[in-house]
This record gives sequence, C-alpha cells and structure tokens, in this order.
Amino acid sequence: AQTTIQLSAVDNGKNPVISKYIYSHFAEHLGHGIYGGFYVGDTSKIPNTNGVRNDVIAALRKMKIPALRWPGGCFADTYHWKDGIGPKDKRPEMVNRWWGGVTEDNSFGTHEFLNMCELLGTEPYLAGNIGSGTVQELSDWVQYVSSDSKNPMSELRKQNGRDKSWKVGFWGVGNEAWGCGGNMTPEYYANEFRKYSTFMANGGDGKMFRVASGASDDDYNWTETLMKNIPHGLVEGVALHHYAIIDWGKKGPSTNFTEKQYFQIMQSAMRMEELVTKHSAIMDKYDPGKKIALVVDEWGGWYDVEPSTNPGFLYQQNTIRDAMIAGVTLNIFNNHSERVRMANLAQCVNVLQAVILTDNAKMILTPTYHVMEMYNVHQDATLIPLTVKTDDYTLGTDKLPAISASASKDKDGVVHISLVNIDPNKAKQVTVNLGDIKSTHITGRILTSQKLQDYNSFTEPDKIKPEPFKDAILKNGAINITMPAASVIVLALN
Ligand code: AHR
Repeated sequence: AQTTIQLSAVDNGKNPVISKYIYSHFAEHLGHGIYGGFYVGDTSKIPNTNGVRNDVIAALRKMKIPALRWPGGCFADTYHWKDGIGPKDKRPEMVNRWWGGVTEDNSFGTHEFLNMCELLGTEPYLAGNIGSGTVQELSDWVQYVSSDSKNPMSELRKQNGRDKSWKVGFWGVGNEAWGCGGNMTPEYYANEFRKYSTFMANGGDGKMFRVASGASDDDYNWTETLMKNIPHGLVEGVALHHYAIIDWGKKGPSTNFTEKQYFQIMQSAMRMEELVTKHSAIMDKYDPGKKIALVVDEWGGWYDVEPSTNPGFLYQQNTIRDAMIAGVTLNIFNNHSERVRMANLAQCVNVLQAVILTDNAKMILTPTYHVMEMYNVHQDATLIPLTVKTDDYTLGTDKLPAISASASKDKDGVVHISLVNIDPNKAKQVTVNLGDIKSTHITGRILTSQKLQDYNSFTEPDKIKPEPFKDAILKNGAINITMPAASVIVLALN
C-alpha cells in the first residue's frame, strides 16, 4: 500500500497564515509545574535568573514559545492575584484545593510570571478568576499589568518595583466554567462573560484578546450558546479543551502501555479533527468572517501519574506515543489555521504531556519537546492546504489513518512539510506531489525510536532526539520517502 499527498497551490492569495500562537503552552500552579519546574527562587543553587531556571529558559527559547497561559487551569478560578504581589514575606498563603491540597505561598506571582515571560521571549496569557473572584478584581488586574496612565493600579505596580507596564494582550475569562470554574450553564456563563468582559479594558493602550471559557470535547451546545449570546465586540476567542485519554477512571500508564492502549489514545487524539471541524462550523454560522478565533487552550495526552508520585501532581513520563500525539495534533491545527489561531499544550513543565521534566538540578527534554521544536518552522508561515490519501494503521478489525501531514511556506520562501506515521509496526511508502513548487533542494529531520514505549530519562536524556533524514528522493515534482514505523519527519524544500 502507498500514501499519496497532494499539495495545492502555494501562492493563491487565499491561504491563511498559521498563527504562531498555535504553538503556545500552559503553566499552572500544579505539582512541580511552577515550583521546581520553572521557578526555584533566587537563593537556589540551581543556576537561575531572578529565580527562573536558566536551563529551562534556554531550552524554551530554542523551541520558541509564542504565548504562555497562567496561572491555571482550575487553579485560576481560586487565584486572587493581589495575594501574589508586594514583599514576599507579606504574601498570604492559600491551599491549592484542586491539586494535592498543598500550601501555595504565592512567592511566584504576577511580577515573577510576567518578568519570566520576558526572559522566555513569550507573550503572557493570563487566565482571570471569575469563579470565586470579582469583576473589580479582574479589571484591576488588567490595569495593573497593562496601564501606563496614572491610576491606583499602575501606582501600586510602580510601588512594587515595576515602572513600565508589561502590556498583556491575551486574557482568559475564567476556565472550564462548566466544571471547576463554577459549574455554570452556558447561558449563565455567557452573561457572566458579558459583564466581566465589559470592564476589561487596557485603558486604550495595547491590544486586548479576550478568550471565553470554552466547551469540553463535543459539547457543541456550549459553543453555540456562547456564539449566540455574547456580543461579538466583547470577545476575540472561544476556547475548547480536549485531552487524549482512554477512560477518566482508568487512564493507563505513561510508559508501560500495550498496543491496544496506544491505539485508543491515538483514536482519542485524532478526534481533534472532528471536534475542531464541528466547533468551527458552529462558529461559521454566527461569525462567517472568522473574526473570533477557536482557541484550543488545553490539549495533550493524559495518563496515570508515575508510580509513587502525588496523584494530585499529574506527573507523567513522555514517550514516542506522545510524539505521535503532538505531531498529529499540530498537523490538525495547522490545517485548520483559518479558525484555530491559538492552542496551548497541557502543560509545559512536569505536568501531563510536558515538553520538559526536571529532577532537582537535572532537566530533560521529552519527545514532545522535539516535535514542538521541529515544527516551529510553521510558526507564522503560510499554510499550503493538502489532501492525504492514506494507508491505514490496523489493530485487529479497527483502523486509523496511518499518515498525517501539513505544509507551509515561510517568509524566506522555504516550504516545510511535516509528516507523521503513527503505525508502530510498519514503515510506509509516501509520495508527496508538490504541485507548483519548483524546489530542487531537500533536507529533513526525523524523530523515532525502536519502541513506542521509549522515553528520555534522567540517566539517558538523549535516547530520543531528532536526527538528520537523508532518504527523501525529490524528482519530477514529487518526493518519495519511506517513513519508518512511529516516526515524525519534517522536510524543508528550497
Ligand atoms: O490541565 C489540568 C487541568 O485539566 C486543568 O487545570 C483544567 O482546566 C483541566 O480540567
């Protein structure tokens, strides 16, 4: 069997730009996501800049991280930002009720986060508390971080050592309002959103991108109700959360999984195509001009925690299976970039499908990190739509499309094609017909490993890493390659 991919016209003036924000991340006050992960404090022996680990900063800068969502997640709707500013010894403690019941000392707050974003070269995406907060609190936060005019909040910020505002564009108005964010109905939430959003203004300076807490998975009624009931001038994005999961009660291990569990996870991950298509179709009904973005601000694989770790910390290892999830999902987002204009992998460091794992002074990059880094060539490039006639990956009588792909042309004219073969048992022959692309030079990189269950560990940190891929044959306007089982390949044509 053979897979054929057909690229469409490159420069037809209609192809959307793949927003770089599709490659964004998420950092919650959860387990060692912040403390120990990003932040060790400025008295730590671990090399740091203002308390933020230097190894993490360097790795994320290389990967390119366009926006970072913080402080939650569920935590966001319990977070009172004023507890996290001013002298650290005066900041009150709280209980992190969602994640392990641990004490949160608020030592990592607004200044620490926004200064960290500057170090990372990333734009902040603040998730506001509407579940247990107030309209005043959220509108004050907006003023505090983004206003340079004279007002009580900008004065308070200056007292706390920051003269010039940071200018925060991205704002979440609550999180999972249907669940941990307040168990609201969509009608009730839409009204709450209208109220909060009205009072969120940067004081005329800087852009404002307000994201409504979106649907879980296939809750299409949620999206429909929001699109119908929220005046479009008050909202710039509507969210969607979808995790690749087998069963909430029985998620299965992150490393020692069976092929059946692999198949099930890929089935769940690949459902993203249907979800994004159907939520987009609803949005098209109310917003045919596609002004409002679909923001998939939580996605990724979710498994049982690593044995003997705190169940509330959601710490899991990351294998080639995760590389498959990342490669396939990012291809879906690229191909839907007309409507999907931001997405945030859950989560960045030490939580769920992390790109980085830390153990005291040690740090490793996961297979997911490598996919994100290989795919960063698509950031802000122009999409080249394509069709894929794919071979199947079969398990018993069940089947999934084996090959997924997306392509783009960057501002220097280089065309990149990202390909994933999810079949863990069989190499696949793939032909890519290039249409009007006249390139003569091809290079590539590949990420793969012997076994699906392989991962990078603190003792073997570079077991899985991208290697040059030299086996692509470019001839007569087509590329022919053999994709090894369970591999991600990114080709560059110029
Ligand atoms: O990412 C972990 C949790 O998953 C988030 O806090 C919540 O929004 C979602 O249910």
